[in-house]
Amino acid sequence: MHTKFAKRVTTASRSFTRTILDLTAQSDIISFAGGLPDASLFPKTLFQKYANTLFEKNDNLLFQYSNASGVEALKIEIAKRYEDTSSKAIMLTNGSQQALDLVCKTFLDEQDCIIVEDPSYLAALNLFHMYNADIKTVALDKNGVDLVSLEKLFLTCKPKFFYTIPIFQNPTGYSYTLENKEEVARLAKKYHVILLEDSPYEALRYEGKQSTSFASLLPELTITLGTFSKTLAPDFRIGWIKAPQKIIEALTCSKESTDLQNSKFFQHIAALMMQNGDLETHTKALIKHYKTKRDTMITALEETFGESISFVKPEGGMFIWVNFKNCKDSMQLFDKAIQKGVAFVPGSVFFADKKVSSFGRLNYTNSSLEQIREGVQKLYEAYL
Ligand SMILES: Cc1ncc(COP(=O)(O)O)c(C=O)c1O
Repeated sequence: MHTKFAKRVTTASRSFTRTILDLTAQSDIISFAGGLPDASLFPKTLFQKYANTLFEKNDNLLFQYSNASGVEALKIEIAKRYEDTSSKAIMLTNGSQQALDLVCKTFLDEQDCIIVEDPSYLAALNLFHMYNADIKTVALDKNGVDLVSLEKLFLTCKPKFFYTIPIFQNPTGYSYTLENKEEVARLAKKYHVILLEDSPYEALRYEGKQSTSFASLLPELTITLGTFSKTLAPDFRIGWIKAPQKIIEALTCSKESTDLQNSKFFQHIAALMMQNGDLETHTKALIKHYKTKRDTMITALEETFGESISFVKPEGGMFIWVNFKNCKDSMQLFDKAIQKGVAFVPGSVFFADKKVSSFGRLNYTNSSLEQIREGVQKLYEAYL
């Protein structure tokens, strides 16, 4: 029998990152490919302590249906992270990936124009394709986006939103300068474009000053996404949306028809951890570990590759975006690297048009220091 899937499914490409994750899970390949936190650092003892606290309350309503926007105690804690924000401006989602999906479901009709940074987060690009959006791109460099192109697109395409990852971007690790952000916010206000600000990495800052968010520069037109996947554990599947109340109401309605609600159990654990200061303490410890890993990878890259590659040292996050200058197509380097026993993500997959790229994304958070040094050496052997 011929199974007739929807066009959005038949035209979707399988995520290249997932292919690599499957490949590396089955072998002893050192993987710089995924965007995974270090599982050995998950604070299991704290999870257990607060899970026990919940069970000791002996409240069966913990496991009952409830509202779609999430546990109030957690929304209150998240709201405190933003200026002049009440819990009514927050809703909880099944990771920020679901938040992205709900924003698309709520805002996009067929062929609506949206703007993305070039390159951008692969799973978001795939999602936008599934919603049949007309995806326009704006070039990104280490200071932010190309403002001339952005204004042209705001003016000519009337986009539903501009999807931006302004801090420690995936895949580049770049962060917008304050001047670039202020200009983007000014243009968004002028042309009345929603800024969809995805910020999963901002808590992982190893140096430099805290950034000003679009949420504070242009609160009335910004939808900000956050997540506990990089600080607590991805399996919690807790993300959040901060947006003007009218938008939160529409998104909540979309969420009701998607999954009614998230599980409250981990939301309560996250709330207790925040109320007691444990999340802050844990994040500080994470930063120390990840900074050492970042520095180890940077030193290994500099000492091994010398001038034959270039990259911008990221001040935080999980990735280094390397320009393999002697290799026009990093997809070919990827094939050789796999033979040598190391994986990374070739740059082309992060561009909307999948153009050939000499760049590659290297993750350092999920490898040991020894694996980082060994993996960089293997990568160099593949590059020679
Ligand atoms: C830019 C960006 N947005 C969203 C996500 C999704 O995160 P989660 O659904 O685990 O919160 C990721 C995950 O790596 C990401 O890099």
